Amino acid sequence: EGIAQAFLIGKNYINNNPSALILGDNIFYGQGLSTKLIEISKKNDGATIFGYPVEDPQRFGVIEYNGNEIISIKEKPLNPKSNIAVTGLYFYDTDVCNRVKFLKPSTRGELEITDLNVSYLVDKKLDFHKFGRGFTWFDTGTHDSLIDAGQFIRTIEKRQGLKISCLEEIAWRKGWINDDQLEILAIKLLKSGYGEYLMRLLQRSKIEKVLLQQSST
Ligand code: G1P
Repeated sequence: EGIAQAFLIGKNYINNNPSALILGDNIFYGQGLSTKLIEISKKNDGATIFGYPVEDPQRFGVIEYNGNEIISIKEKPLNPKSNIAVTGLYFYDTDVCNRVKFLKPSTRGELEITDLNVSYLVDKKLDFHKFGRGFTWFDTGTHDSLIDAGQFIRTIEKRQGLKISCLEEIAWRKGWINDDQLEILAIKLLKSGYGEYLMRLLQRSKIEKVLLQQSST
């Protein structure tokens, strides 16, 4: 019944905390993203949305803006006021579950995330961050855009020999799991390139540790 329904369904899980929402068909990729998101997540009051230039704004929520100030947001407008689409990543304060209760279904029968964002805008509590042209965002909601995203990810991963958003790798690099735990996960997936990739990470890090020891003795 619309993206904003997430805050009716997830109310108990959110449990009066600030929250972030990301749409499952959205892909974000770019240097410095996590630093930026950690910074934004510390904000306790209001909401934050993100804009990105696209060729086909009619497919999205569209932001009309002046500098960093949002003038309007329209859901899938026939005549977009800009080429800046609202991406599927949103940060909200503790008021979000309460605000959703006042939303009415749109003509397409959905509780619109755009209407929720407009409620923050009306109260002058909506921040906007624009991702620049060096950043990549995909909404993979059409066959075409899914293929575009797949090709993009394949190109970068092939070039770097590094996987994008490999959860096991992230957990390991952050120190949430240790070498042994990563190895157990890798062994389960060995028949696929994925498990081999995790094993390669471990081997590389062992070699790096040995080299570091040698250079310090
Ligand atoms: C939804 C939102 C839209 C946003 C888009 C981003 O569109 O309603 O504002 O720009 O996600 O992916 P939908 O997936 O419902 O077409």
